[in-house]
Amino acid sequence: MDNEVRLGIIGLGNMGNYYARSILEGEVPGLQLRAVCDMDESRVASFEKEGVTPFTGTDELLKSGAVDAVQIATPHYFHTTLGIAALEAGLHVLVDKPISVHKADCERLIAAHTNKDLVFAGMFNLRTDPHFLKLKSLIESGEFGRINRVQWTVTDWFRSDIYYVSGGWRATWKGEGGGVLINQCPHQLDLWQWLFGMPTEIYAQCDLGRFHEIEVEDAVTALMRYEDGMTGVFISTTGEAPGVNRLEIATERGLVLYENNLIRWRRNETESSAFCKESTQGFAKPDSWEVEIPIEGNGEQHIGVFKNFVAAIRGEANLLYPAQEGVGSVELANLILFSGIKKQPVSLPLDSAEYEILLNKLISESTFEKKVVETKVETDMSASFQK
Ligand SMILES: NC(=O)c1ccc[n+]([C@@H]2O[C@H](COP(=O)([O-])OP(=O)(O)OC[C@H]3O[C@@H](n4cnc5c(N)ncnc54)[C@H](O)[C@@H]3O)[C@@H](O)[C@H]2O)c1
Repeated sequence: MDNEVRLGIIGLGNMGNYYARSILEGEVPGLQLRAVCDMDESRVASFEKEGVTPFTGTDELLKSGAVDAVQIATPHYFHTTLGIAALEAGLHVLVDKPISVHKADCERLIAAHTNKDLVFAGMFNLRTDPHFLKLKSLIESGEFGRINRVQWTVTDWFRSDIYYVSGGWRATWKGEGGGVLINQCPHQLDLWQWLFGMPTEIYAQCDLGRFHEIEVEDAVTALMRYEDGMTGVFISTTGEAPGVNRLEIATERGLVLYENNLIRWRRNETESSAFCKESTQGFAKPDSWEVEIPIEGNGEQHIGVFKNFVAAIRGEANLLYPAQEGVGSVELANLILFSGIKKQPVSLPLDSAEYEILLNKLISESTFEKKVVETKVETDMSASFQK
C-alpha cells in the first residue's frame, strides 16, 4: 500500500529490539520497519538481511529520506535531543517514556513541535489497559463521587543488581538522571496525573541506593496534597520482592481497589459525607456491598500505541497519546526527588530551571564509580512489563 508508514527505530537495546521484532512480525499493520539505528554496530547489523537499513549515526538516519517516522528507545537524555532533531528533520516521532529526564528538557522538546502536521506521540502504553480506561471513565462520569484519598503502592518493579550494571547509563545522575522515579515509575505517574490530575504540594522521602549499589533513588514514599483536599500517597521501589501493585481510591461512593488485574469496589449506598451529616448513630457506617468490575486482558499496550501512531499519521484517527502529556509524569518524578533531596515540601508548579540546576549539581559532584558488565539484549521483555 502506498500509505504505509516507514519507520526507523533509534536505540536497539531491550526495548528497541522488542519493537523492531514485533513490527517485523507484522503486529502493526500499515507500519514498515525500514531502518534501525544504534551507536553499537553489533546491535543493528543483523537487521540488514531482513531488508532493514542499519545506521550507526542518528544524523545519517534522520537525513536519509528512508523513513517518515522514528521511534526513540535510547537512554532518557537522548529522548530530548533526538526528539528535537527528528522533529526538525520533518519526521513524525514516537518517543519512549519518560519523554525527557526533567521538566526543562520536556519544555525544550515540546517547543520543537512547531509543525503540527507531524504526529508527536509518547509511549504511554499502560493507558491502553482497560482497567485504567475503566477507572478513568468511572472517575470522569462522577460514578465514584468525590475522591478523598488515593494510595498507590507499586513495589513490583524488582530489579536485580545485574540489571543496573547491564548498561553504563543506568542509575546514574549523568546517564539516566534518576532511578526508579524516572525509569520504572513514569508509567504509574503518568496514569496518576491522567486519572487524578496534579497535586498542589508534595512531600517525599527518597532513598538513594538503599537496595542497590547505585547513586540514584531506588525507594520513594511521596505524600501529595490537592487543591480540593484530596490526599495521595505514592510508594515505589526496585528493592522489594515479591512487591505489590495496589491502587486504593477512597471515594464518597466507597473504596475502589485495583490489584492483581481486578478492580473491586466496596460501594456505599449513600455518599459517606451525606451519611456522616444525616446519621443519628455515632458508630454507624453507610451500607455497602462488593462490586467486581469485569475486565478482560491488559489491552494492546505498546502495539496499541504504535497502531494509534500509524492511524494518526494517516489521518484515520485522533492521536490518543500526545507526547506533550508526558510532561505531567516527569514533573511529578522531578518534584518527588526534589522534595526528597531537599527534605522539605515542594509546591507546584515545579521551577524547571531550579530543578535542572539541582540535577546538574548532582552530576558534577558525583564521585560514584559505575560498574558495567557486558550483557546480551533481552529477547523476552514480557517479564519487565507491568500487567
Ligand atoms: N515503554 C516501556 O514499557 C519501556 C520498557 C523498558 C524501557 N523503556 C524505555 O526504553 C528506553 C531504552 O531502554 P532499554 O532498556 O532498551 O535500554 P538499553 O540500554 O537496553 O538500550 C539502549 C540502546 O540505545 C543505544 N544508544 C544509546 N545512545 C544512543 C544514541 N545517541 N543513538 C543511538 N543509539 C543509542 C545503546 O547502544 C543501546 O543499544 C528507555 O528510555 C526506557 O525508559 C520503555
